[in-house]
Amino acid sequence: MIKLAPSILSADFSMLKNNIEIIDEAGASMVHLDVMDGSFVPNISFGPVVIKSLRKITKKAFDVHLMIDEPTRYIDDFCNAGADIITVHAEACTHLHRTIQQIKSKNVKAAVALNPATPLNVLDYVLEDLDMVLIMSVNPGFGGQSFIPNSLDKIKSLRKQITDKGLTIDIQVDGGINTSNVRTVIEAGANIIVAGSAVFKGDIASQVKGFNAIFEE
Ligand code: DX5
Ligand code: ZN
Repeated sequence: MIKLAPSILSADFSMLKNNIEIIDEAGASMVHLDVMDGSFVPNISFGPVVIKSLRKITKKAFDVHLMIDEPTRYIDDFCNAGADIITVHAEACTHLHRTIQQIKSKNVKAAVALNPATPLNVLDYVLEDLDMVLIMSVNPGFGGQSFIPNSLDKIKSLRKQITDKGLTIDIQVDGGINTSNVRTVIEAGANIIVAGSAVFKGDIASQVKGFNAIFEE
């Protein structure tokens, strides 16, 4: 089953409660929360205090994408704020294995994100420990960028590895996804689709339904 994870980075921040209620009602599977520290990525967004207050609005899973250096420092804070899945960037962790175990010790799902230039083999010795891998299809930091086509080969190779090893791991794809190109990432093997601007710029409910209609084809 393919799932939609709208990224609220492209929502109207003065209307966050309303925008989250709309995606919840329209059939989003989870809420993708982009945390940026102005160091790992050249942008700053929001942190655990905001996530904790948003937690009251919906029961949908909170998928927290940490674009921050050395996320080990803040894992407990994001778990306590109500994260259901925490994604850390391989490039941002000195001790990636330890950071993954730290997330799992809090009974939260653990995921690792790879930037477009990062090879899959950084996951060679941790793949079995993961619930999800996030393949970035843009360089992280901003919504509204264009999809990087090389991401498709990466998704295909990862899906093959997961299948060959007999594992059950979600593949999430994030960046530049819209209703015109989403079929190609699904065919490549992704099963959790992040979309920011393609959901929140325009009629939010009908765009969520548009993605879900494609997933049911
Ligand atoms: C980018 C973020 C994405 C972003 C996606 O750094 O990780 O989640 O919000 O936005 P779109 O779908 O507009 O590329
Ligand atoms: Zn993201």
